Amino acid sequence: MESAKLTLDPAFEVGPVERRLFGSLVEHMGRCVYTGVFEPGHPRAGDDGLRRDVIELTREMGVTTVRYPGGNFVSNYEWEDGVGPASERPTRLDLAWRQIETNAFGLDEFMTWLREVDAEPVMAVNLGTRGIGEARDLVEYANFPGGTRWSDLRIKHGVPEPYGIRVWCLGNEMDGPWQIGGKTADEYGRLAFEAAKAMRRVDPDLELVACGSSNMRIPTFGSWEATVLEHCYDQVDYISAHSYYDPVGGSRADFLASAVEMEQQIEGVIATADHVAARLGSRKRLKVSFDEWNVWSQSLFGGESSLDWEHAPRIIEEEYDVAGAAVVGSLLITLLNHADRVGIACQAQLANVIAPVRTEPGGPAWRQTIFHPFALTAAHARGRILRVQATAPVMPTERYGEVPVLATAATLDDDRLAVFAVNRGERPLPVEIDLRGLPQASDLSHVTVADDDAGARNTEREPRRVEPRPADGVAIDGDRLTAVLPPVSFNILKARLS
Ligand code: AHR
Repeated sequence: MESAKLTLDPAFEVGPVERRLFGSLVEHMGRCVYTGVFEPGHPRAGDDGLRRDVIELTREMGVTTVRYPGGNFVSNYEWEDGVGPASERPTRLDLAWRQIETNAFGLDEFMTWLREVDAEPVMAVNLGTRGIGEARDLVEYANFPGGTRWSDLRIKHGVPEPYGIRVWCLGNEMDGPWQIGGKTADEYGRLAFEAAKAMRRVDPDLELVACGSSNMRIPTFGSWEATVLEHCYDQVDYISAHSYYDPVGGSRADFLASAVEMEQQIEGVIATADHVAARLGSRKRLKVSFDEWNVWSQSLFGGESSLDWEHAPRIIEEEYDVAGAAVVGSLLITLLNHADRVGIACQAQLANVIAPVRTEPGGPAWRQTIFHPFALTAAHARGRILRVQATAPVMPTERYGEVPVLATAATLDDDRLAVFAVNRGERPLPVEIDLRGLPQASDLSHVTVADDDAGARNTEREPRRVEPRPADGVAIDGDRLTAVLPPVSFNILKARLS
């Protein structure tokens, strides 16, 4: 049987585990907000309408950071509609997803929810139909202590202390022809510069994200980032990247190798940002905010024009299988291995809409298969990320050529070693890990997310079909740790070092 060999050496590291890599997105789209995180009258909702079952699952998942309120939704959104007495909030048309938006949930409800899940906000401003003034006002509402029009309004709404929101996205996917108020790279670059300047005058401690390309296949990928950053490099801290990996339209091997594409995209965005830094003679280095990523059968979605005007419709409620969980695990591994330059990452989205958490209105909430690799990685990736030296058998793919069957990352936190590993192959994969330079390993464990059927899913009827389970056979012999990874699986191997 072919096997993989890894070498870990504590002297070689990527950098610290950035907690903001375990982010998510709550967008006013489909049932992510309404009947997802917010459902007044639900048996598990409090007086504030927030579903406690979803809060508990979000905490269990280990979500550290949540982007809000979109997504495409933000580009036609007027944030003032969503604050103040609920009875006075207007019902509006959401042009991104042809939804009826009641505004029953807005910034203040989101921040209450976020406190409950113990996560940090990443707030997006509307640079589609709106501009510098409204972005400035929103920062004043959220972050200015008081004594001014917008900060006093927040206080009047029962929030005396400023929220102190640090991270802000300057719009969303502004390169996309689908985006309401989309722009050319020059138009957006100038606007991002001026909006950033005004927002920073209100609060100099902001960390700002400029929109990069909405995906890697768009023809302007690379040139968009270069032009935008020529305008706003000095004003921003991050450049965004988005990508969804489609199980439909290629072979299973292609899909399982999706992380190869994420890696190419991260490297391409970094190279472009560093090129602009070189041109400008700047020593500052930007980080990537990979603030939308997930598995999504996007090719099956008919687009917004296929939707009817509805409130909280069931749209893109993807059901995930074990193969999807393995891909999500490999994407998390890729983010960890690039944490020296990727500072934020948000899986899109949190509830119902291409989401790890599913709910039924008035009914239960459950974990999709992709919940598990996220929760395991968020829980166990701590301390420093080690640079893993790996050799593994390869598998042929149509899209990416020969790809290693193994994707892996490792972290070391004092005496705790964690190795994250995805077997993309259809056969069990023996792995041998050389722990040279590390103290003696003991207390070994191997947990896997796998199933005899890689198409197995969790459903309302069978919500626990796919769960992490202990795997047999992990062993240590001197400084060689051995285990066998089941076919198409996400795995975490843990050891205590002494
Ligand atoms: O997450 C779904 C949508 O995908 C977002 O609204 C948009 O930013 C992206 O195209």
